[in-house]
Amino acid sequence: MLEYCTAGESHGKGLVTIITGLPAGLQVDTGDINHQLAQRQKGYGRGGRMSIEQDRIEILSGVRGKKTIGSPVSFFIVNKDYPNWSNVMDAEHNTPGERAVQRPRPGHADLPGAIKYHHRDMRNILERASARETASRVAAGAFFSQLLACFDMVLYSQVVSIGSIACLPVTPDKKSRKDLVQSIEASPLRCADSQKTREMMDLIDGAKARGESLGGSFEVAALGVPPGLGSHISWDRRLDALLAGLIMSIPAIKGVEIGPGIDNSTRPGSEVHDEIFYTPELGLYRKTNRAGGIEGGISNGETITVRAFMKPIPTLYKPLTSVNTSTWEEEKADIERSDICAVAPASLVGEAMLAYGIARAFMEKFSGDHIDEIQRNYCTYRDYMKKVWKWEKT
Ligand SMILES: Cc1cc2nc3c(=O)[nH]c(=O)nc-3n(C[C@H](O)[C@H](O)[C@H](O)COP(=O)(O)O)c2cc1C
Repeated sequence: MLEYCTAGESHGKGLVTIITGLPAGLQVDTGDINHQLAQRQKGYGRGGRMSIEQDRIEILSGVRGKKTIGSPVSFFIVNKDYPNWSNVMDAEHNTPGERAVQRPRPGHADLPGAIKYHHRDMRNILERASARETASRVAAGAFFSQLLACFDMVLYSQVVSIGSIACLPVTPDKKSRKDLVQSIEASPLRCADSQKTREMMDLIDGAKARGESLGGSFEVAALGVPPGLGSHISWDRRLDALLAGLIMSIPAIKGVEIGPGIDNSTRPGSEVHDEIFYTPELGLYRKTNRAGGIEGGISNGETITVRAFMKPIPTLYKPLTSVNTSTWEEEKADIERSDICAVAPASLVGEAMLAYGIARAFMEKFSGDHIDEIQRNYCTYRDYMKKVWKWEKT
């Protein structure tokens, strides 16, 4: 099974990631991985930390001469901020009580984490709950995207709303996806609509001036996914459930929909379900994709689209009421250097988690130890789809 895990504290020495189950023979492009990491660092409304870091991966194992060899792939991302924190974060020698956190931030992991893990200093919680960890996910996601690209699957992500300002998501095909990605990467908020981007930036400026924070939503999508990933046969094999769980695992994501799932719930069935057509030239096809590419927990060959809704950042520069847990007196919550709005970087984390989900389901169906073996399995399936099911699309 394709799996990965991450380790590392926000102000520790760095982040370690281990991926198991990648096939041998996969061409690895570290330039592309570092590009995705650089994109995650951007975003209007981010805090000062991102100007200190310059995330790049150092591959430690599993890759030789730019190709995977089948063993676990591990890599390191250094925290450049660590020297400023070594007296607080060093594994052997630190100054007790230095930068201790005892006024938990409402909406963050501080209080429930401290109760659960028996910590009086909530720094032991926030260091790991911090979204710094998502740099690992974005880098791992780039490996998975490179695997998917070998089978003509490509992904993109775009910001759809910040606070109350929303735009319509753009739905590209494989040809126009590159242009969309270019315009998204040129936007300070990863939003394809430049007018709305300006309005969103003004909204963030206003929130910053008031000591407030903002949430929003983004869409992630995968094009070229073949029909047949996931399964209806058991709850734990459904692709929609897997993807929703993965997207929901991103810090601060509190809602997920597959396709326009929430809007669909307000409409009659005739306006929601995607009718099925056939011509000898096109084979089987749909004119709409309101199911978001998944029916019965199985990919149906249309673009898979997932939308995620993010709550406002919990650290407020005008902090909410909390309790000092060393005196039990009412005080304002602690402030830790923070983003005002992080929907743009979260969208890249969403893209990484979607890449992982699709790659995991793909490997489950077409598994092999070498990329060529998977190619053979996939080609056989595509021939079958074409002959038996008149499926022409890739
Ligand atoms: C990319 C990204 C950046 C984030 N930046 C911050 C931040 O600077 N300050 C903060 O308090 N929360 C930030 N968050 C949100 C917290 O990590 C999150 O709210 C917290 O871990 C509690 O988890 P929960 O919101 O899922 O309950 C960020 C989340 C993401 C995805």
